[in-house]
Amino acid sequence: MHSFTAEQIQQLNDRFTTPEEVLRWALETFHPRIALASSFGAEDVAVIDMLMKINPKARIFTLDTGRLNQETYDVMDEIRKRYGTSIEVMFPDPAEVEQMVRVNGMNLFYQSVGNRRLCCGVRKVQPLKRMLSTLDAWITGLRADQTEVRSGARKIEVDSQHGGIIKVNPIVEWTWDETWDYIRKNNVPYNKLHDRGYPSIGCEPCTRAVRPGEPLRAGRWWWEDDSQKECGLHADNGS
Ligand code: ADX
Ligand code: SF4
Repeated sequence: MHSFTAEQIQQLNDRFTTPEEVLRWALETFHPRIALASSFGAEDVAVIDMLMKINPKARIFTLDTGRLNQETYDVMDEIRKRYGTSIEVMFPDPAEVEQMVRVNGMNLFYQSVGNRRLCCGVRKVQPLKRMLSTLDAWITGLRADQTEVRSGARKIEVDSQHGGIIKVNPIVEWTWDETWDYIRKNNVPYNKLHDRGYPSIGCEPCTRAVRPGEPLRAGRWWWEDDSQKECGLHADNGS
């Protein structure tokens, strides 16, 4: 396990300009104990394209909550074919899901914020922790302008939420438009829900399309206040 001082992290952030430079450094330093966390949204497929061009053996994992849209499984398959890569699919612990739905029902997330966080905890956060406990670094498709909490994110950070491993956010400084410019220019497969008004895609029961002019994440957990819209993958929400 590598360890970096705050000063070294700062120097690395200053050193790299393009997402590709960040990814090249990250793979050279950590592969195979590094993997991209992908939900196959626009940001993630752009990062996958860059990653596969740098090293086709780079690892990609996804957290299959069991509640994803068919379109999300479709793009996963397209990505597999296009790049000849396998995707490491993490599932939630069946016993935990069984217990949760026995007590709270299948649609518990609509009942309270506490139940929604419980579901995200069991179906996403715990499987993420299981994967990250085997890695020295992980890569995400986070962008700083997605949420208030993410506005301070850097290209390379120490992830104190996950045992101090390195978190690499190569396109953290990109806008939504830059992401789509990359996808179009490189003809990257993308989730077809994006063509149907879904800018941000999570689980099927917890995501809706947005109306023109609505914020990009307005369709995520749309029944909750904006302030609570993180599932715990990138901000500790107590789950
Ligand atoms: S969330 O916290 O609101 O669900 P968001 O959908 O914005 O996250 O995605 C931000 C980043 O988190 C993605 O670019 C990806 O790196 C990671 N991520 C989100 N959902 C998943 C998932 N189901 N599987 C793997 N990684 C994910
Ligand atoms: Fe459960 Fe919804 Fe969270 Fe998916 S987004 S894990 S269905 S609460």
